[in-house]
Amino acid sequence: MTGFFRQGPALVCDGVPLADLATAHGTPLYVYSGATIRSRYRAIDQAFADYPHAIHYALKANSTLAIARLLRSLGSNADANSGGEIDVALRAGFIPPQIVFTGVGKTSAELAQAIDLGVRSINAESAGEIERIDAIARERQTRVDIALRVNPDIDARSHPHISTGLKTNKFGIALSEVRELCAHVRAMRGVSVVGLHSHVGSQITDLEPLRRAAAALVQLAREMRAQGTVIEYLDLGGGLGVSYDGSRVPDATEYANALLPVVRETGLSIILEPGRQIVAPAGVLLTRVIDMKQQPGGKLFAIMDAGMTDLIRPMLYDAFHRIEPVSRSSAPEVACDIVGPLCESSDTLGKDRLVPQPAVDELYAVLDTGAYGSVMASNYNRRLMPAEVMIENGCATVIKRRQTIDELLALEA
Ligand SMILES: Cc1ncc(COP(=O)(O)O)c(C=O)c1O
Repeated sequence: MTGFFRQGPALVCDGVPLADLATAHGTPLYVYSGATIRSRYRAIDQAFADYPHAIHYALKANSTLAIARLLRSLGSNADANSGGEIDVALRAGFIPPQIVFTGVGKTSAELAQAIDLGVRSINAESAGEIERIDAIARERQTRVDIALRVNPDIDARSHPHISTGLKTNKFGIALSEVRELCAHVRAMRGVSVVGLHSHVGSQITDLEPLRRAAAALVQLAREMRAQGTVIEYLDLGGGLGVSYDGSRVPDATEYANALLPVVRETGLSIILEPGRQIVAPAGVLLTRVIDMKQQPGGKLFAIMDAGMTDLIRPMLYDAFHRIEPVSRSSAPEVACDIVGPLCESSDTLGKDRLVPQPAVDELYAVLDTGAYGSVMASNYNRRLMPAEVMIENGCATVIKRRQTIDELLALEA
């Protein structure tokens, strides 16, 4: 058995007790299951096996180098969202033709970096960005392959903060403008449109918006071919959700069964940019109870040593994560708010949770925090970035050590 499960009363990762890891490495601590990352990557790859496809793991979900390296070793390519993520991809061993460069606001320096490296494609977000790419490419007397990121005005039915495919969102080129833009781009000497891209949101648990977005790209590719622009591939983005509360959500096979019938007749190869689907359930955040506080006539609070600087999803998206004692406890259940130590009332990991009466120093695990967890960590309140450990074949390796106060202050005069 792999992943996070109980061996008797103890929560373990790939057989390694989480309590031992917290003792050895301190808390807050991210722990990842290498085996879970492998199996979840393979599940997507196998679901699409009978159709030409390339998986470009979305580094934004978790770009700790060891995780990026592991995905590369499995055959993944990379989706980078900034110059920094391109650098991380290169340092993790991806070569430029394995990288697509996405992002709603790419600076000229980042575009030049991507062009000089020769990344597989730049997913262009606007007419202005295409003009900038064209100018940089012509200056270098080269021609750059781009994909047009289309905004199909489709509601992903996810949280508004992670929906990206509506016309009220800043992302992509409106479907109604793509045809005219394409005619304009055809006259440019520095760019070739070779792909169409869409990404309508994240944590999508209803396959219909994803299917509709793919259908919109297929239709557009057909029209563009008639206009004289030959599209070589469709980039269907990422976005497939995971279950944070144990309820059933579509798996990789159902995802493929929703998308492949839509694209198959085109024969066009596809790119997928999954992030969360691969890494979210592969990580937990370990945190200890610092203090218990009962406000008279008010709430009971369990104050933890991890908060919004370590995991901001609950505060940013009202995201739900299961929070469990690492060692099963027989204490009577109480309702409490599980909160962080920061000077913010929003610093709440879980509201009104029923847990066995927590005790000071007790170790808890915040589950399914492998995606958009450590990558979104911050130094607010001068807190230090947590350490990260990966379990591979029963061995724990520190893949990111805890930041020190000297490192934090090294940038300052
Ligand atoms: C363009 C793009 N591709 C892929 C992803 C990865 O999404 P997810 O982690 O939901 O699979 C994102 C994240 O929102 C994105 O913006």
